[in-house]
Amino acid sequence: MSITVPFLDLRVADQAERQDLLAAVDTVLQHGRIVLGPEVAQFEARLASRIGRGHAVGVNSGTDALVLAIRAMGYASGDEIITTPLSFIATANAIAINGLEPVFADIGEDLCLDPSSIEALITPRTRAIIPVHWAGRACDMDAIMAIANRHGLDVIEDCAQAFGATFRGRSVGTFGRVGCFSMNCMKTLASLGEAGAVLTDDENVAKHLRALRYNGLGEAGTCIQVSHNGRLDTVQAAMLMVRLDRIDSVLARRNAVASFYDRALAGIVGTPPRDELRADAFYTYTILTPRRDELQAFLAERGIESRVQHLPLMPEQPAHAHRKAAFPNARRMLSLSLCIPASEKVDDQQMHYVAATIGEFFGRRPNAV
Ligand SMILES: Cc1ncc(COP(=O)(O)O)c(C=O)c1O
Repeated sequence: MSITVPFLDLRVADQAERQDLLAAVDTVLQHGRIVLGPEVAQFEARLASRIGRGHAVGVNSGTDALVLAIRAMGYASGDEIITTPLSFIATANAIAINGLEPVFADIGEDLCLDPSSIEALITPRTRAIIPVHWAGRACDMDAIMAIANRHGLDVIEDCAQAFGATFRGRSVGTFGRVGCFSMNCMKTLASLGEAGAVLTDDENVAKHLRALRYNGLGEAGTCIQVSHNGRLDTVQAAMLMVRLDRIDSVLARRNAVASFYDRALAGIVGTPPRDELRADAFYTYTILTPRRDELQAFLAERGIESRVQHLPLMPEQPAHAHRKAAFPNARRMLSLSLCIPASEKVDDQQMHYVAATIGEFFGRRPNAV
């Protein structure tokens, strides 16, 4: 029997979950408050309490969470924000679309923004740092917050890939002035489409974001700042509450798959180093090998889908390539890295097959687990 292992499987095969999702949608169909219905505020309250922040503002996507959060900070055109070169392009676009300049630092061996690469880039126009908690791993928030505090900069956390990740036991998204989450259908906490949220303890920022998420219309119904429509859909909020009820088992299964790979592949491939300060949430599982492209082709021939996240680096994307930056470690690390299937849908047979196939490629037997 041949086994195939998709990177992600977005079907809802669990019948109980399916029923709960359909019931949640049906409730919205019955009450008919389709736009900003009660489920939006209910979901926001549950999300804020789960993350540990005073306010959550539901928006249309993780991209909008970043765009609107940056917009709410009130920076001037041409101001600069320092971020990592290694992220989904939404991070850089969210800065640039607000008329600001993304300034790319470098990453560390952990694939996250390297704090030691930040300070040399700070200029009188720098306003904020955007750390991206890469693939479910928290950045070094001690070091990043210390730099931000020393220079009077805001920290806007990009938590799009990191729901469930912690640093010193605290959820990502609780360190900076705001934390931006994506709940698109591929994320660990996933809607059935597009969704995002901005988390903050600052009531004024939350209020401002509620205006910005609907064309900048303030409480008086007049436009206080130019913006667009980025509201969270009621049906998505309703389904996200169903997903939130199950999130701990999703995180636990991803953790189990990752810890299987850790043990089975130790000594065969590298992984970004871990430490006791951070609990990873395994949005994806990254392996490191200088034979990355060959391995990816070998896996594909054997029915295993893998991904390089994210090629090209943001400063090498055509739309951003005019910005000057040096990021030697990001170039090196990205050339080595490959994400293998590790979602909660990966079953035991599939994860053993993935490990055995990687072992076969290197002429090694995976470690017994
Ligand atoms: C690091 C990062 N930031 C931002 C986003 C944008 O989120 P969305 O796709 O919900 O707009 C993503 C999406 O994958 C992401 O991975």
